[in-house]
Amino acid sequence: MTIQLKEAPNSLKSLAGRDFLTLENFKKEEILSLLDLAEQLKAKRKAGEEEHTLKGKTLGMIFEKASTRTRVSFEAGIYQLGGNGIFLSTKDLQIGRGEPIADTAKVLSGYLDGIMIRTYSQEMVEELAANASIPVINGLTDLYHPCQVLADLLTIKEQKGALNGINITYIGDGNNMANSLMIGAGLMGMNLTVCAPVGYAPSEAIVTKAKQHASISGGKIIFETLPNEAVRNADVVYTDVWASMGQEEEQKQRIEAFQHYQVTAELFALAKPDATFMHCLPAHRGEEVESAVIDGEQSVVFEQAENRLHAQKALMTELMG
Ligand code: CP
Ligand code: NVA
Repeated sequence: MTIQLKEAPNSLKSLAGRDFLTLENFKKEEILSLLDLAEQLKAKRKAGEEEHTLKGKTLGMIFEKASTRTRVSFEAGIYQLGGNGIFLSTKDLQIGRGEPIADTAKVLSGYLDGIMIRTYSQEMVEELAANASIPVINGLTDLYHPCQVLADLLTIKEQKGALNGINITYIGDGNNMANSLMIGAGLMGMNLTVCAPVGYAPSEAIVTKAKQHASISGGKIIFETLPNEAVRNADVVYTDVWASMGQEEEQKQRIEAFQHYQVTAELFALAKPDATFMHCLPAHRGEEVESAVIDGEQSVVFEQAENRLHAQKALMTELMG
């Protein structure tokens, strides 16, 4: 039996041609509609069907940092939608030799239907988007990882049946994942507790933005320095690496600073009995998480990774369609 895709609600029609540089580019209703489409595309794929909504369209994928999930899920996703993906390393592009971002954006807009970029600077992604006439998708910067959180929201909705009012505890570095989780939780009415060692808390500017969103959605952004307290009543316990890409030289000092912030089986047991463990991956077992937790029954890290594909297919369909 062929699964019919539902007609998108009016609110979603306006996503065509837009950028996805941060979750703040979309309203709560738009994110919910994207998740709905992602669920439909996932069901289709599981039924052995594909919807060629992007037939003949081309996505350029610029990478200045390493990637497994983002690269493969975008590339497989665009093919499954009937389009083509081109992998572009900044080592080979003229950007690497100093060609201005604005010129690159204008040139690529003449060839492609969308650009996904993974790089260090959020400002660079914003400059690319400002000068491109096609949608630009942020595939991770030092500041944000919105595609990951889109997939995470899909995963939480599947696991818990809702987003509103769900308690998530993020333990670890106040990095790009923490920032995007705060914005996502704030927008979607979730209660996020962030637990980071002193000196590694997320930036105040992002906290302020997330709290503003939470005040509208009814969510909460809470800070707690003691991991044992932070995980109490958590529906989801989330962590990420202690040293992100670009921070390799700080690895030793970070292991020291974060030693009491590991998600151990003992700590995870303090969360709700049916709590779910999440991690964006790649993970370092024995650092931010014990293998008993990440490889345990309550971990959904591989479902989460798979959902990158479905969430991004929904995103590309709406932005590039
Ligand atoms: N989670 C994530 O973005 O993984 P990659 O770095 O492998 O793309
Ligand atoms: N915080 C990590 C996320 C990797 C997906 C990093 O930026 O390296």
